[in-house]
Amino acid sequence: MTMRIDVISAVPDFFTSPLNTSILRRAQERKKVELYVHNLRDYAYDKHKQIDDKPFGGGPGMLLKPEPFFECIEKLKDQRKYDHVIFPTPGGMFYNQKLANQFSLAKNIMIIAGHYKGIDDRVRQKFATDEISVGNYILTGGEIAALIIIDSVVRLIPGVLNDSESALNDSLMDGDIIEAPYYTRPAVYKGMEVPEVLRSGNEKKIKMWKEEQSKILTEKWKKINNLE
Ligand code: ADE
Repeated sequence: MTMRIDVISAVPDFFTSPLNTSILRRAQERKKVELYVHNLRDYAYDKHKQIDDKPFGGGPGMLLKPEPFFECIEKLKDQRKYDHVIFPTPGGMFYNQKLANQFSLAKNIMIIAGHYKGIDDRVRQKFATDEISVGNYILTGGEIAALIIIDSVVRLIPGVLNDSESALNDSLMDGDIIEAPYYTRPAVYKGMEVPEVLRSGNEKKIKMWKEEQSKILTEKWKKINNLE
């Protein structure tokens, strides 16, 4: 099965490099996912190709008009059924690994990348099935949030990561667990030494050390994030 993700954006160029580099590129080459970015402007039907307008009730800035979104989204929805229509917004549910796992089971996903305060609310009302915030801060628009969601979902599709990159023992994968740190050569660099135990070859000791470190880092992580 190939997952399909459609993104609608007023600034499609934003996606060019991130979606065509490294693992997201490889996922497409392996036919694990099809990624499409739709240019909102292609769905503007007035002769000036206008996609924004002044907000009713006043206020600074311009809003993305509803019609191009409706045109594009309805066309896509006529062609296939979408399991999720994701609307990135600071007012949405906080994104986490559990949501990424859920989205990774979908066949078709649509992401509407608007701008905070920059999109006519009727688009959200009509189409959004999942309103998602990627964190308690304000981005310039939904594009980076869309990329965060795409990246975290696509890497979970079976066959996207190689065994050595496996998502199975990631930090945060089973419950909220932070992994032990990793080191490679050189064993000593600028006076900083790789922990002796990792170079000992004693697998049992290494396993115990990793578990211990993981416990320490998880406690520290909970403390700095006020969890539990
Ligand atoms: N758009 C602007 N800020 C955002 C955020 N934190 N999460 C999702 N979408 C956004």
